[in-house]
Amino acid sequence: MRPVVTGSIAFDYLMSFPGRFEDHFLPGKLDKISVSFLVDELNLRRGGCAANIAYSLALLGERPLLVGSAGSDFGPYGKDLEGMGVDLSGVLVKEDVLTASFFANTDQEGNQIASFFTGAMQYAREISLPQVVKDPDPLVLISPNDPHAMSRHAEECRKEGYRFLYDPSQQIARTSGENLVRDSRGAWILLVNEYEEEMFLKKTGLGREDLRELAENVVVTLGAEGAEIRTPRGDFRIPPARPERVLDPTGVGDAYRAGLVKGLVGGLSWETAGRMGSLAAVYVLETDGPQSHHYDLREFAERYAATFGDAKDLEPLLEKGA
Ligand SMILES: Nc1ncnc2c1ncn2[C@@H]1O[C@H](COP(=O)(O)OP(=O)(O)OP(=O)(O)O)[C@@H](O)[C@H]1O
Ligand SMILES: [Mg+2]
Repeated sequence: MRPVVTGSIAFDYLMSFPGRFEDHFLPGKLDKISVSFLVDELNLRRGGCAANIAYSLALLGERPLLVGSAGSDFGPYGKDLEGMGVDLSGVLVKEDVLTASFFANTDQEGNQIASFFTGAMQYAREISLPQVVKDPDPLVLISPNDPHAMSRHAEECRKEGYRFLYDPSQQIARTSGENLVRDSRGAWILLVNEYEEEMFLKKTGLGREDLRELAENVVVTLGAEGAEIRTPRGDFRIPPARPERVLDPTGVGDAYRAGLVKGLVGGLSWETAGRMGSLAAVYVLETDGPQSHHYDLREFAERYAATFGDAKDLEPLLEKGA
């Protein structure tokens, strides 16, 4: 099984405003807003759910196929991903538009004013999965993306008989209950966090047990509490790993997905794959941004042993990688 990661590829432009937004808005003049904030810090970070997941999968020794759309500014970003072992043959590059970009300005009190520019992401719907997937036995991740692309890929997976992991995350908020049911139906795994599960149930009108009918397995991440994995052969509570420090949670969920998927494509048990997810996640918590962490499979296994007692279960992966 080879991981095929579909979803967003993006840049984050993160600014810090050394004042309070509140002081710049005049009460009674809110119908004519014209404000400019002088910011003293701008960080350009590489992100996007699919790219983040592919990044951590590459650290874990996989050669994932990345499927998504990017724009004219993707060059150096793509080159670095490729250098790590990410297969870019599924990336549609549109030279006349910029890559999807998130612009956020945060003031001293943590208030945020942000915009998300869809950019090249809107073209992801033009990508045909069967045309870019060469592996006969892929595991396709359907991660947040252009909504039409997500529905298209789910449909393609059902039609082609590809195993897929449906990962709607923040897109749940803007997807109807009907579409959520349609797109997740037949998934090998439905993966959401605790809050998203509640929202999914509310929007679809389903009960928690009904999810087992929709997808074969359900994984619910519980933040610092770890995760719960529900399978037809039993439910498992997965412990979290211990971060040495918590610097920035951006991308923690994506890293979890990479760890879990690495274990599953390696044929490991749900419990081991889940613990790999927990460990992959904390590397991201400890660093600034979703793609600033570094490790290799051997270091990962050593930390896995230190965290969970031993790393015997990871031996098949290490032997394969050697
Ligand atoms: N504070 C923490 N300490 C240890 N592990 C954590 C912590 N926060 C998250 N994790 C790990 O990361 C996994 C995913 O976290 P969470 O449930 O918060 O996902 P999420 O809300 O989707 O994240 P994101 O903000 O990236 O979307 C958890 O299952 C857990 O293993
Ligand atoms: Mg998430």
